[in-house]
Amino acid sequence: MLEFRRRLEKILAGGGAEAVARQHERGKWTARERLAALFDEGSFQELDAFVTHRGTEFGLAGREVPGDAVVTGFGTVDGRLVYAFAQDFTVLGGSLGEMHAKKIQKCMDLALKTGAPFIGINDSGGARIQEGVDALDGFAGIFRRNTLASGVIPQISVIMGPCAGGAVYSPALTDFVFMVDKTSQMFITGPDVIKAVTGETVTFEELGGALTHNQRSGVAHFFARDEAECIAQIKRLLSFLPSNNLEDPPLRRTSDPLTRLEPGLREAVPPEANRPYDVRAIIRAVFDDGDFFEVQERFAQNAVVGFARLGGRTVGVVANQPRVLAGTLDIDASDKIARFVRFCDAFNIPLVTLVDTPGYLPGKVQETGGIIRHGAKVLYAYAEATVPKVSIVLRKAYGGAYIAMCCRGLGADLAWAWPGAEIAVMGAEGAANIIFRNEIAEAEDPAEARARKIAEYREKLYNPYVAAGRGYIDAVIDPAETRPLLAQALAALAGKREDRPAKKHGNIPL
Ligand code: HXC
Repeated sequence: MLEFRRRLEKILAGGGAEAVARQHERGKWTARERLAALFDEGSFQELDAFVTHRGTEFGLAGREVPGDAVVTGFGTVDGRLVYAFAQDFTVLGGSLGEMHAKKIQKCMDLALKTGAPFIGINDSGGARIQEGVDALDGFAGIFRRNTLASGVIPQISVIMGPCAGGAVYSPALTDFVFMVDKTSQMFITGPDVIKAVTGETVTFEELGGALTHNQRSGVAHFFARDEAECIAQIKRLLSFLPSNNLEDPPLRRTSDPLTRLEPGLREAVPPEANRPYDVRAIIRAVFDDGDFFEVQERFAQNAVVGFARLGGRTVGVVANQPRVLAGTLDIDASDKIARFVRFCDAFNIPLVTLVDTPGYLPGKVQETGGIIRHGAKVLYAYAEATVPKVSIVLRKAYGGAYIAMCCRGLGADLAWAWPGAEIAVMGAEGAANIIFRNEIAEAEDPAEARARKIAEYREKLYNPYVAAGRGYIDAVIDPAETRPLLAQALAALAGKREDRPAKKHGNIPL
């Protein structure tokens, strides 16, 4: 018993009091403090605490490396089973060696076998230099498991310190990446290497900080001001998700009646096609308790994606955001939407799409950047998805973007429109300039002829009733009734079964 206690105390001490103090000075918690904050009190069971490394080179021989710089195990988060690892930066900089990797891999295998979410808390100098190819092989085994577990269990990566080099690719393979402001960074090569190779000067924060990856690169999905906020965000995310792909998301009790009418929605969308508004106000008005958990809130803000609930059941919401770039679809918005749709489809989360977009964003940067390739991801993701899909055209649905935002032909089970919807190949002004060009030019009063032709176009093509007349729109609905109608529709679609042709896998444009 004495020997057991002595060994355990050493492991629990991690890198020692001084290293722990340094960690705290930086505004960072230790690996064990993080796990204690994440898991329900007393529920965490550690695995492999006594594992030791087998390194012999460069001072590693005989060196004690508590826990081999990582804590792994399982426990409950809000009563539900979760597996996790937390790298211990106070021990050899949390670097990943052979046995460190084996601990993580064992934990991943158990999560996959038991169908439980897997959370990785990263705080590490990357591959342990002294262990050479053994460390690299360790990463390879983790990446392979990340890939095999994708779409089976939710995988969450939390960056709470450095995450450098190839180490970034485990988070990149997982479903959601959380970063903490000022204390976390992700990069393939650091500022010193960049300076040496390209001559560019850049800070750690600019290169790979939480803001950079949440706002610009789109690598991260959630931004937290500190570790406590980050842990709270992870728990909130988990509350929307099933534990695995064979389960439905958990049901949350709500007192918000499904029959609730929202007359304010009749005025929520400005009638002028170019007037902006915040689509999130509509989302909050429709779903339970005004609660909307936005994913990638700071990235590609012309699209809004996130989780909400209807009658306590999780729904994935995708919307154009008319107040940013008029809600156009560009490269980043396409990537953001496609990835979110595929996550929801993998985990049995129905999709509600709110459409108000004038189309794909025109421009040289977009075309040469591959908007064709990226935009195709949205089409592919929606067409491939077999979960219930309901789309509502709030105002504009022009051209290719009408199709991309999950129109009936692409696979929506139900497609609705609000009365002010404008569904057409393009806006009225642009259309009049093209198809009535000669008539307008030859008219005695071109301005009057133009106005007349625009009115004619509006009446004939530019309203929801043409699409509804062909059955492309199932119903034109009173905006006030959106919530009760959606609730009925999703209940009716809950038993949806849809087959796809047998194949190894499709080939989504990447
Ligand atoms: C072994 C490492 C280490 C590593 C840090 N340490 N990184 N030991 N292998 N990769 C050790 C340090 O020697 C030190 O040990 C302790 O951890 C703390 O490190 P410091 O440098 O003192 O801390 P700090 O100043 O905070 O700097 C943190 C850091 C820096 C930015 C992460 O340590 C760093 O740049 N490390 C190397 C990062 C890197 O290039 N890694 C390889 C990436 S390539 P002592 O004993 O002094 O306390 C990679 C390939 C993966 O990961 C491939 C997958 C396919």
